[in-house]
Amino acid sequence: MADEWWRRAVFYQIYPRSFADSNGDGIGDLDGIVEHLDYLNDGTDRSLGIDAIWLSPINPSPLKDWGYDVSDYCDVHPELGDLAAFDRLVGEARRRGIRIILDLVPNHTSDQHPWFLESSSCRSNPRRDWYIWKAGSPDRPPNNWVSMFGGSAWKWHEPTGEWYLHLFLPEQPDLNYRNPEVVAAMHDVLRFWLDRGAAGYRVDVIHGLMKDAEFRDNPPLERVEWGSQTDVELKQRHLYDVDLPEVHEIIRGFRRVIDEYGDRMMVGEVWPRDNQSLAMYLRPGELQQAFNFRFLFCPWKASRFRAQVEEMERILPAGSWPTWTLSNHDFPRHITRYAQGGDAQARARLAAVMLLGLRGTSFLYYGEEIGMPNAEVAREHRRDRVGRDGCRTPMQWSNEPGGGFTRSQRPWLPLGDCAVNVADQMNDPHSMLSFYRRLIRIRRASPALVSGAIRIADDAPDDCFVFVREAAGSRAMVMLNFGEERREIRAASGRIALSSDPAREPGAVKSGMLALSPNEALIIEIA
Ligand code: NOJ
Ligand code: CA
Repeated sequence: MADEWWRRAVFYQIYPRSFADSNGDGIGDLDGIVEHLDYLNDGTDRSLGIDAIWLSPINPSPLKDWGYDVSDYCDVHPELGDLAAFDRLVGEARRRGIRIILDLVPNHTSDQHPWFLESSSCRSNPRRDWYIWKAGSPDRPPNNWVSMFGGSAWKWHEPTGEWYLHLFLPEQPDLNYRNPEVVAAMHDVLRFWLDRGAAGYRVDVIHGLMKDAEFRDNPPLERVEWGSQTDVELKQRHLYDVDLPEVHEIIRGFRRVIDEYGDRMMVGEVWPRDNQSLAMYLRPGELQQAFNFRFLFCPWKASRFRAQVEEMERILPAGSWPTWTLSNHDFPRHITRYAQGGDAQARARLAAVMLLGLRGTSFLYYGEEIGMPNAEVAREHRRDRVGRDGCRTPMQWSNEPGGGFTRSQRPWLPLGDCAVNVADQMNDPHSMLSFYRRLIRIRRASPALVSGAIRIADDAPDDCFVFVREAAGSRAMVMLNFGEERREIRAASGRIALSSDPAREPGAVKSGMLALSPNEALIIEIA
């Protein structure tokens, strides 16, 4: 059990519209991904060496929320390809030892999904109860719940004279998981792609599938929990709209379906009230993995990252496994977030060593391996209603027109600065890409780093995060200096497997104090 593939895996998230455009229409597509699989893993040191891909939603969608508003769960958006292209992708990936997980969006559908078209057609429609409808007066929403994208979470539906709930856009009505038919329908969706060879799912807003049966008002927020812009604006404690005890039963139902297939997995997008609650989603029979966004939101401080890791290590249920990520399609890329007050390149390298050095599964976001910064998207080219375009711009394959992403003169989102690109980094031993490749290779070759236990050093200076990983017969020490000063850190004796400082001499280290340069990350293979 401790040996399941997803525990050892390095995942790579692809935003399909932005990875590679195979047919010149300016939109990335599934065949484009197939063309670049060798870049991800061709079994040699030239490739990045990832084990699995998470594809952001590929389903047909009116694209109000870029695929997170699904209008057909069992097909592929025509701009991205078709079911045959999906089958090709799974097959070609499998030949290279790469698994594909899909993004399942069960909390809500598009308002154009046939289920909602039926549900909203009249109050007596048999699918009325598939969504969350409430009677009331048109001038007062049924309660104070707010949409994660701002404003009330309720929309008045004039034709049938009731409100419906949408935790996100009004075009994303929430499904009603208190109706067993909805649960069964989503189980069928799960099976549809598992039957076609998907290795599992990243599950969107999984903590939101159940709402308070009495629809009580959320209490006001006592303190800003997440420190993000949105939550400052939301100003309420999400006590009754998300993260309810009842959601765990729905998750256990999903898991039973996953387990019918033996080796498949789910990683949840969970925004719990605290890490204790996050751990509940990782109990046996629930999710195999869940993202920890508090880690992603940590400012550039060793003590903050360390505190997150320590807490997770303390509270995770026995046998469960951490998951670490620093970037995705919802937040500014981390190389840009960490650039303030320091050297972005050096910090990004340190961040990579932390991510891939920690006990747990790592999720990379396309482009981070070349240090692609967040792009400034000019107002007239913006596509996302809530301002997330900057982290979704096309992959920068080369510095040619179209960035090697597309032949079209009009990519769906403009390219960022293609001075940062794969082609230039491919054969440069000092590039970010070469650094990631080396790091992933070192991880793969080290039983300690892949699956070992973690012990966090308590004698490291405040601005350093140091830990030892250990599996039978293999030990590695990961030393991270987040500070802008040289720091003396107690090192174990062994061999330097990797350093982010180009000036660091490779070779043996003796046990004792070792000086790390500012922002240096070091892995020692302990003798
Ligand atoms: C989380 C997804 O990551 C985000 O992109 C989306 O807008 C919301 N869930 C709603 O589905
Ligand atoms: Ca295309």
